[in-house]
Amino acid sequence: MDVMRIRGGTPLKGVVKTQGAKNAALPVMASCLLLKGRTLTLENVPDLHDVSTMLDLLACLGVTMERLGNRMTFSVPEEISWEAPEHLVRKMRASSLALGPLLARCGKTVLPLPGGCSIGSRPIDLHLKGLMQMGAKIEIRNGIVYAQADQLRGRRIYLDFPSVGATENLMMAAALAKGETIIENTAREPEIENLASVLRGMGVTVDTEGTGCVRIKGVEEVQGCRERVIPDRIEASTYVLAGVITGGEVTVDDIVPAHMDALLAKLEEAGVRFHVGSSSVTVFPVRRLMPVSIRAMPYPGFPTDLQPQMVATLTLANGVSLVEESVFQARFLYSEELNRMGANITIKGDTAIIQGVERLQGASVRAMDLRAGAALILAALAAEGETRIDEMVHVWRGYEAIDKKLKALGADVALEEAEEK
Ligand code: UD1
Repeated sequence: MDVMRIRGGTPLKGVVKTQGAKNAALPVMASCLLLKGRTLTLENVPDLHDVSTMLDLLACLGVTMERLGNRMTFSVPEEISWEAPEHLVRKMRASSLALGPLLARCGKTVLPLPGGCSIGSRPIDLHLKGLMQMGAKIEIRNGIVYAQADQLRGRRIYLDFPSVGATENLMMAAALAKGETIIENTAREPEIENLASVLRGMGVTVDTEGTGCVRIKGVEEVQGCRERVIPDRIEASTYVLAGVITGGEVTVDDIVPAHMDALLAKLEEAGVRFHVGSSSVTVFPVRRLMPVSIRAMPYPGFPTDLQPQMVATLTLANGVSLVEESVFQARFLYSEELNRMGANITIKGDTAIIQGVERLQGASVRAMDLRAGAALILAALAAEGETRIDEMVHVWRGYEAIDKKLKALGADVALEEAEEK
């Protein structure tokens, strides 16, 4: 269903359960490519379009999958293909996570460059540089990466930026490399720890320390294992903000509260009252938010994947908020859509200047990417009248059953097919 209609203005109330994390599920699914004649079982895999794309990619490479609810078991034969098909890599940038494990396991791989997307150019130069430092020979011809390495060798690698994907790709490659790999200035996102845990289950020694340095001792062959995908902190935070923006009382359950510290600190500053339980958070009704300043940055900083939803929430604050984006260059395109709903956002370089308004009005808007779509949904939930959101296809990449979850909280939400043009 490509269109969502929301009639806003109802304070949301109730409990919502959090899905497994998209950004943890994708790399741990890719890690099954390290196995030979063994299985990987994952619990709590979310039902998302990006997960289906990764399943299609793994299937094209020769992996079979059995599913029981949110549990998936991947069986990986002795021989698999090392060529990632272009249409799947183009569809989802995270397909590049197959690069490290395929190269380490097959000794070669062919993978089209994933290309940019609407939030900015997204090169994989750091992934390639790290693999070359481990001994891979890499050539790029006509936008396709040809990588080869009979045996990757562990060594010290310094990442110029704490890239999530580069950290994950290099960790998977290092699992089958000879000797020890030490990766410095790594990403510290909780999803990295989830992957580390899978690799440990496979028999690899992984030391993450949580300080931006990962040490991995490679093994000759990895074992099958079982792991649970961590809760999706971005999905959970989106529902927290749905409670806040509608002045409702929402409990988000099945979370790891520590993963949401950056959001909760900013909500406290904005005057929101909340209660944090051992695996839940409840936000209480707030009349009007106070403005805050935020800088989106790598974990444990404020997540860039929550920046659009937070900007949407701050459009109704009592004063001027500043939100700076330091991870992706072009992540404010959605602000035009929010302005069509009555928001007052000006973009200056990397910063959104948000002059709070008293109310938003429903309008016809377009989700340009996944989190932009989530931001528009939040604005629509608070707006007067009806909002029509087109191109929901982006939202289904990362939010399982968002229509049903919002309805269960009392929102007036309907889905429909886009009419033929
Ligand atoms: C992951 C997340 C994505 C999130 C992002 C940042 C997944 C599947 N996706 O994406 O939702 O928004 O982390 O938290 O986990 N960069 C380079 N060269 C590289 C790699 C990255 O210049 O080789 C740049 C990117 O263009 C971007 C920044 O580094 O500006 C961050 O990218 P990265 O951390 O790699 O994000 P992804 O792993 O693609």
